[in-house]
Amino acid sequence: MTQTPLVEQSRHDDILVLTIQNPPVNAFSPGVPEGLKAGLSAAAADEGIAAVVIIGGGRTFVAGADIKTFGLPREQAPDLRGTVQQLDAFPKPTVAALHGTALGGGLELALACAYRVAVPGARLGLPEVKLGVLPGAGGTGRLPRVVGVQKALDMMLSGTPIPATEARELGLVDELIEGDLLEGAVAFARRVAGQRPIPRVSERSVQGATPELFAAAREAIQKSHRGQLSPALIVDLVELAATRPFEEGWQAEAQKFMEARESPQSRGLRHIFFAERESAKIPGLGKDTPLLNIRAVGVIGAGTMGGGIAMNFLNAGLPVTIVETSQEALDRGLSVLRRNYESSAKKGRLTLDEVERRMALLTPTLEMTDLGGADLIIEAVFEDMAVKKALFTRLDGLARDSAILATNTSTLDVNEIAAVTSRPEQVIGLHFFSPANVMKLLEIVRAEKTSDTVLATCMALARRIGKVGVVVGVCDGFVGNRMVHRYGEEARRLVEEGASPEAVDAAMNALGLPMGPFQMTDMAGLDIGYAIRVHRAQQRGEPEPDGWLDRIVKTGRKGQKTGGGIYDYDDTRRPRPNADMQALIEAYRAEKGVTPRTVSADEITRRLTGTLINEGARILDEGIAQRAGDIDVIYVYGYGFPAYRGGPMHSAGEQGLQRVVEDLKQYGHTPAPLLERLAREGKTFADFDRERARG
Ligand code: 3HC
Repeated sequence: MTQTPLVEQSRHDDILVLTIQNPPVNAFSPGVPEGLKAGLSAAAADEGIAAVVIIGGGRTFVAGADIKTFGLPREQAPDLRGTVQQLDAFPKPTVAALHGTALGGGLELALACAYRVAVPGARLGLPEVKLGVLPGAGGTGRLPRVVGVQKALDMMLSGTPIPATEARELGLVDELIEGDLLEGAVAFARRVAGQRPIPRVSERSVQGATPELFAAAREAIQKSHRGQLSPALIVDLVELAATRPFEEGWQAEAQKFMEARESPQSRGLRHIFFAERESAKIPGLGKDTPLLNIRAVGVIGAGTMGGGIAMNFLNAGLPVTIVETSQEALDRGLSVLRRNYESSAKKGRLTLDEVERRMALLTPTLEMTDLGGADLIIEAVFEDMAVKKALFTRLDGLARDSAILATNTSTLDVNEIAAVTSRPEQVIGLHFFSPANVMKLLEIVRAEKTSDTVLATCMALARRIGKVGVVVGVCDGFVGNRMVHRYGEEARRLVEEGASPEAVDAAMNALGLPMGPFQMTDMAGLDIGYAIRVHRAQQRGEPEPDGWLDRIVKTGRKGQKTGGGIYDYDDTRRPRPNADMQALIEAYRAEKGVTPRTVSADEITRRLTGTLINEGARILDEGIAQRAGDIDVIYVYGYGFPAYRGGPMHSAGEQGLQRVVEDLKQYGHTPAPLLERLAREGKTFADFDRERARG
């Protein structure tokens, strides 16, 4: 029998087993369809073969089409659809044996088989929407025929896989195999080998379709996937599947898949997919770097930040000792933490037993010395260098020798903090984003002396607590906040020139950010930014800041926490313009002799993204970020930049760097030298990442 290296054929008496061997996730890469087709043809021709089993070698079944081939012309892309067609028409029973994750094209392959069996721990899903595409190998037609329209839409629009146990209940899996999957699948295949007619999903009818259901789905995606292309295409295709013959949907799906695949949105989402995985790799840090065992964590400060940080570890089953300076603050922190858990329980995300289990892992204390047993101590105290230095001196004396000492500072120099300890190699910055139990980003600040082991341990820990950890270097604001400061400055300038805060926010909302710069400022608290500006001015020997926003702070309005800031807020926390603040801004302009002009939404978005890109380029040039992709990951996961735009640095490439340079110059900024160079050479930041990776 012919074999290709990516698909092994093995005979188990009258059953032919085709094992896909394309590590790490058995993606449908070039060579896989050829191997499967060859195996199927061999099985069809051999009278001694009664049925075929398709299984994945290694840790998983097929995790989908090979995303790396999405840039290829259609003719060169691996022929997933052809393989699916061959399976659907196959004259002998076929059984897909699933373990790990059967995703996207992997599940579509399985759906084209006559039967599906799975280990109970397997997960099945169509996550294409997360990459800005849609199931393109029969998934939109077949899944509704098996699980019904509503469930199929839920799965395709959320992209979230379901456990095999649920798939069994839905009839998506025919049998759960408790023991060895291959053995169970072969036995199953033998049992069904004589069954005729061979069941084919494409011949089933679709259950549960009503016009109201599609109308509701279309309305729902306006909210859940605002501005995105592929969810709407998915709904259209499922409707087609429900109302027209299978073949018609199958043809339409191919066309829509290509439309989505070629869209800038899919390019953006694919960029983020790979950038996120790339960001986990640290040049020069080998896979064999020894890791420290983190069994217990200490958190200093039970305020919003400290409490949120603690929750991450409790959620991951790690005991946490949390320290405060007064019983009152400790009690308050604990009750907020409990309330957070109870509200998750109310929403059905957690059982009450689980709430208690997590709370039981928490040890509140007023004694710093109780941190002596912790393997990692994170401080989330007041942002002041003297306070932090005193704290780290103390921690150095009481923490166990191997403990990692981490600061959650967002602006201070981690080298300076590390220098007060006798173990600077064990000091690191772990910059969580508020709310710390929700936001996925963790900036991992590598100080000059941080050891490889400590860095690698923190990266692994980030993954363990479900965060995306990105390594950054030491500078004021690290990556995210340094960029956001520039962005805030430019937003304030836009208002000074004549734009209203609402117009600035609306332009960024239209770009896909859930919050514009002023909505964000009001939420974070106006006094926070003000304190930073005062601090900077003092450091630089400049006069006290006195912009229009500073004047708003001085009226006592500090944002949402005081009921209003730049905007007023009603009970639903929706911002409404405030007439006094508008008057304050107008008076400010008049005082500065500015004649307000009309600023278009296009100018707002270009200037604001331009400043992000420009500062990003400086950060990259200084080596504070390792890659442009890392900056994109930070901005998407920490600041709500829409993933379908791929983050600011990727979006620069979509616009063309030359245009970004021209915009910056037009609005009075000096383009970063790196940005200018890349623009001159006709390159993108992705080219820069490749250049840097090559060394
Ligand atoms: N294509 C190409 N490479 C892939 C891939 C895919 N579908 N899925 C994963 N990889 C790569 C990753 O980039 C990573 O590479 P690296 O080691 O060089 O960084 C490696 O495989 C391992 O991936 P993870 O680090 O993500 O491993 P995990 O174990 O954490 O997760 C996973 C495994 C759940 C399979 C996760 O990788 C994942 O969600 N993959 C994407 C699945 C997906 O979206 N499938 C649909 C593709 S679109 C499609 O099928 C279209 C069709 O309908 C026509």
